[in-house]
Amino acid sequence: MIKIAPSILSADFAQLGIDVRKVAEAGADYIHIDVMDGTFVPQISLGQPVLKSLRQAFPRAEGTPLFDVHLMVEHPETQIESIAAAGADIITFHYEAARHHHRIIQQIKASGCKAGIVLNPGTSLACIEEILPYVDMVLLMTVNPGFGGQKFIEGMLEKIHLLHHTIEDMEFDCEIEVDGGINAETSKLVRQAGANVLVAGSAIYGAEDVAKAIKDIRG
Ligand code: DX5
Ligand code: ZN
Repeated sequence: MIKIAPSILSADFAQLGIDVRKVAEAGADYIHIDVMDGTFVPQISLGQPVLKSLRQAFPRAEGTPLFDVHLMVEHPETQIESIAAAGADIITFHYEAARHHHRIIQQIKASGCKAGIVLNPGTSLACIEEILPYVDMVLLMTVNPGFGGQKFIEGMLEKIHLLHHTIEDMEFDCEIEVDGGINAETSKLVRQAGANVLVAGSAIYGAEDVAKAIKDIRG
């Protein structure tokens, strides 16, 4: 089953609640929330206070999309508990921003959230071989993190394909999420390669008809 995770980075922050409601009503499965610290990536986006307001506006209930928090921050271990308390359902952190990956995965799970690890385009799948059994999700970046509206890196298709086969062979219960440059065209390619959670920012929030954009990306 393909899940769609609109990224709020491309929403209008002056009317964030309205924009999130729009995609929730259009059938989004996850709300993808990009937390950027200005160090791991060049810009600062938002953090716990905004997440908390969104959680209050969208309490957990049947039909409410899960909050999928993508941490693009150095020292992610310092943010886990407060991000969970602010309302995350899924927390992913970058392999490149951390040292004690297994410990952080345990920390995320102990905070009551699903745990995922993110790989930059230049980071090999081999880096996560040992922790794959412990994660609920792997997020493969299909652009370099930090900005919306970048071009999909085609070379990542092979990486998605490889991860998909490893997960199938090992019978792990692990989602493959992709993030960056996903639109109606590239979504076909990543679905074929084995991704099942598709993040899209500009292709959804930049569309006239948000529901149609979600439908087209879902395929
Ligand atoms: C980029 C973020 C993405 C971003 C994707 O670092 O992680 O979630 O919003 O934007 P698009 O879909 O426009 O490439
Ligand atoms: Zn993201």
